[in-house]
Amino acid sequence: MKTTLSLIKADTGSVGGHNRPSEAMVAMAKERLADAVKSGLLSDGRVTFTGDDIALLMVHTYGVDHADIHKFAWDTFVETTNIAKSQGLYGAGQDLLKDAFSGNVRGMGPGSCEVEFEERPAEPFIVFAGDKCGPGVFNYPLFSCFADPYHNAGLLLAPEMHAGFTYNIMDVNYTEADKVITLKVPQDYYDIATLLRDPNRYVIESVVENAGGLTAAVASTSRLHNIAGKYVGKDDPVAIVRSQKMFPSTGEILSPWARAHYTLGDNRGSHHVAVMPVVQNSIISFFDGPTIVSAAGYCVHEGKLTESVDLFDQPFWNHIRDKAARKTLELRDQGFFNPAMGPHDEMEYTGVVENLKRLDAKFVTRSPKK
Ligand code: 13P
Ligand code: 13P
Ligand code: MG
Ligand code: MG
Repeated sequence: MKTTLSLIKADTGSVGGHNRPSEAMVAMAKERLADAVKSGLLSDGRVTFTGDDIALLMVHTYGVDHADIHKFAWDTFVETTNIAKSQGLYGAGQDLLKDAFSGNVRGMGPGSCEVEFEERPAEPFIVFAGDKCGPGVFNYPLFSCFADPYHNAGLLLAPEMHAGFTYNIMDVNYTEADKVITLKVPQDYYDIATLLRDPNRYVIESVVENAGGLTAAVASTSRLHNIAGKYVGKDDPVAIVRSQKMFPSTGEILSPWARAHYTLGDNRGSHHVAVMPVVQNSIISFFDGPTIVSAAGYCVHEGKLTESVDLFDQPFWNHIRDKAARKTLELRDQGFFNPAMGPHDEMEYTGVVENLKRLDAKFVTRSPKK
């Protein structure tokens, strides 16, 4: 029997500002998840939070895109929203952008990624969850950990990976339907790089290994401003990456995060910032940031999860957190001047549009010089 991992997240309200969900919200999500295991909908699951986003990791046998699983997640987020409202929390129901559930959470606000597979005898995987960033935050680390021997030494040392990987990349600016291109490394390396250099528009949806056709990674791709038509909060994506054997080792998957690469997010989702790898259940602080990403390692066996290992909770990452803070402060020195603030097409969803419209009307066009 195949196992499905479904990872669905939403910001349904937070304490302080956009900082973290309340204990009562997390407790409610945990209680509902335990009930879903008891009732047999799920074989197992976990609730975590990263900044103000709650993530539900659900294990089951229904395959991807199953209405019952998505409804369970949606209803759970409706319940945590109700708690947030009753406690007067900030941004209650922030990511629930539609009034009624209609079969699948995709296009409704919550971020989701899912993968179905035949369990290997040992099935290790990593759950990544970000806050104050868009789905493009995964472009650099997912490209590098699969395609680049600087991080994935297994491309040279492990014959299983020699055939490379296939990337499904989505153009998230196209909102009529999913618009996806499929490209392979090593042969299409430069074409993939050409797309992924623009992480606000082109984002990795999934990665598949070429030798056996097994899915190696899946990531959420939703962009809230494309659903809402305006800035309503950042996307705050999640990803699942399987590790070892025909996939990169867990350490190779973590390796690119040591760069503390710059991404767009942070305060009001509008600032470039260095991504800080953090421990589970971390909060948000400086400048409504910095952008944070957590990583939890698990094994799943016959539908049951092991305890998790908090992969960024290790002294090495203290050094990277310092580096991320330094890199962020370098850019913060520049305040609102580009490129510290985001590019124009991203700002179009914010109040800047109204300001520019008002100012444009005051511009005077001088008569052309003779
Ligand atoms: P082990 O020999 O401990 O399994 O480690 C192998 C490996 O590839 C680590 O990156
Ligand atoms: P969230 O998307 O995490 O709610 O952050 C929104 C924001 O604008 C913070 O300044
Ligand atoms: Mg929020
Ligand atoms: Mg958030």
